Parts: sequence; C-alpha cells; structure tokens
Amino acid sequence: MENIRASITGINCWVPEYRLSNDELATMVDTSDEWIMQRIGIKERRILKGEARGSSYMGEKAVRGLLEKTGTSPEEVELMICTTVTPDRMFPATANIISDKVGIKNAWSFDMNAACSGFIYTLETAAKFIESGQYEKVVVVATDKMSTITDYTDRTTCPLFGDAAGAVLLEPTNEDVGIVDHIFRTDGYGRHHLHMKAGGSERPASFETLMDKEHFIYQEGQTVFKFAVSKMADVSVEMMHKHNIAPEDLAWLVPHQANMRIIEATARRMGIKKEQVMINITRYGNTTTATIPLCLWEWEDQLNKGDNIILAAFGGGFTWGSIYLKWAYDGKKNK
Ligand code: UT7
Repeated sequence: MENIRASITGINCWVPEYRLSNDELATMVDTSDEWIMQRIGIKERRILKGEARGSSYMGEKAVRGLLEKTGTSPEEVELMICTTVTPDRMFPATANIISDKVGIKNAWSFDMNAACSGFIYTLETAAKFIESGQYEKVVVVATDKMSTITDYTDRTTCPLFGDAAGAVLLEPTNEDVGIVDHIFRTDGYGRHHLHMKAGGSERPASFETLMDKEHFIYQEGQTVFKFAVSKMADVSVEMMHKHNIAPEDLAWLVPHQANMRIIEATARRMGIKKEQVMINITRYGNTTTATIPLCLWEWEDQLNKGDNIILAAFGGGFTWGSIYLKWAYDGKKNK
C-alpha cells in the first residue's frame, strides 16, 4: 500500500462521577468561584474516588468502551500506547496494566510522557506505526488521575486539575482523511517552571520529600501562562500557513484545556471564531493528557468526514505542538 495515512476510527472517554465544584474548593483554600471563573474558566472538575484506583482504572474503562463501540476484539489490537504523567506505578508501564485488564494479549504496549502534550505526541507516534504499513489496529489511551499529585492546600494549583481518560483507535486509510502533519517542539529548560520535584531517580521519595510536599505539581503559573499563550498559537498558525488553511476552512481547533484565556488567545491569533473551538474546560478542568480526546468525544456527533481539524497543546517539559488531521467518519453514526 502506498500513501497510507493513519486515521482515528473511534473514540471513547471515561470520567469519574464525583464533581469537585469551585464552591467546595473554597471551603478548602482561600479562593472563590468568581476568581476561578475569571482567571481560569473552570466551574468544576471530576475526581476519582475509591481505594487502589489509579490511572489504569480509568484507562481500562476508556479502552474497553472503545473496543465495544468500534466492534474491535482485544485480540485484534497490535499495539497500545498509553500517555500519562500519573502512572499507576513507576514500573511496569500503565499501558501494560491496561492491556492485561482489557484482555489485549497479542500486542505490545508502552507508556509515553510528554505531560499535557502527551496525547498529540502519542497520537503522532502511533500514526507512524500505521503509516509503516506493518500495523492495522493501534490504540492510544490518555489517562491522568491528576488529583493524586495536586496539593489541595495550594490555591494556585488545586483549582486547575481534574481526572479523566480517553482512548482512540487508529487504522490505515488510502482516502484523503486522517493525520496529515505535525509540528512539535520541546524546550527542556521549561522543567524549572513546571515539574514534580521528587519521586524520581534524582530525588527519590524520603521523609523529607514528603514533609516538604515535593510529590505534588510545582508550577510558576505566570511564566507557564506566557509560554503557553505564545507557543501554542505559534505552532497552530504555522500549521495553517503550511497547509494554506484559511480560518473559514478550519472546522475545529481542539486545544489543550489549561486555561480559558490561553484557548481564547490561541483562537484570536489563528483568526478563527469561538464557534470553531472545542471548549469544555468549564466542566472538566485540565485533565492533562485527556483534554483533547475528551473534546473530540463530546463533539463526535458534530464531526463530519473530511473536516479540517487542528489539535494543539502545550505542557510540562516544556513540550508543545500541533497536529493537522482530516476527520475520517461522520460522527453521528458512531455516537
Ligand atoms: O497544562 C499545563 C500548562 N499549564 C498552564 O498552561 C497554566 C498556565 N498558568 C495559568 O493558567 C495561570 O497562571 C494561573 C491560573 C495558574 C494563575 O493565574 P494568574 O492570573 O497568572 O494569577 P497569578 O499567579 O498572577 O496570581 C494573581 C493573584 C495573586 O495574588 P497577589 O499576589 O496579587 O495578591 C495570587 O496569590 O491571585 C492570587 N491567586 C488566587 N486568588 C484566589 C492565585 N490563585 C488564586 C486562587 N484564588 N485560586
């Protein structure tokens, strides 16, 4: 086969039931619904409750539902890649755990970490296996239980994050749909502004790291904000120029959901209308790797075959990038 493209042929997500509202957060830290809505644009986020439930718990549900929805048996899956910053354990990979739980036995699986850019980095990586002609069914699962690394005594980070998982099936196509192009960047110096201080090989867990709360997200909000606004827009505008996509030709921008103001600034730079942007940050917050699949899943029934879509993300690393794809099926039929 020549000119094989990888296309998303199914999507499924899973979110926990519990809704942590701004009003509840205001009983935990000195904040208010008004401040959070004005500065971030989040009303509530989902939190996974219950003992011994890690990211694989949500990932399993997302993948199981995806296989059911697409009529794919676990035996048919050849590769599964999981992206997460909250793996169940340091090792084995969360992908291995999800494979076992779902019954994916004839495949190999591994994890990728690119923080909030995890979904787009992993989607592109998975697409390369399809484009090689050697793979016909690859699953990407994005799952993050951000509540486990969020400090609910720190008002500068705790309103931001939520828990969720999303999964997509990638298959080959010879039609003019699927993943067309990507523009990805990394700047490792950004690690100083957004990271988790301890728990890795540089600074293993100890009594001190626990007492100093070094197992939570550390973020210099304003610095990250400035980078996110300019970098996410840069690569999205560059993608439009590279493929001669006029604002009116773009069906959807699917941005990482970190802050409503970042999303709006990106859309403004691209010259597109708010109606062309998928936004659900208000209801889920920043679910890290899961934000983009969560949008595609919620908007699935409005997607049409051939729709021009740009995915864009910025996150820890720093990592950022955009993907240009043409949607592969009429979403109404699949919902
Ligand atoms: O997805 C990964 C990438 N992450 C991002 O893209 C996040 C980027 N950053 C942001 O979204 C924003 O920087 C934040 C939402 C984290 C913070 O918003 P900000 O407008 O940059 O606020 P700030 O940090 O400049 O703080 C302004 C004020 C401070 O008070 P003073 O020093 O001016 O008196 C903060 O202490 O707001 C205060 N503040 C709060 N007040 C009420 C910070 N957090 C809160 C809060 N409630 N939750």
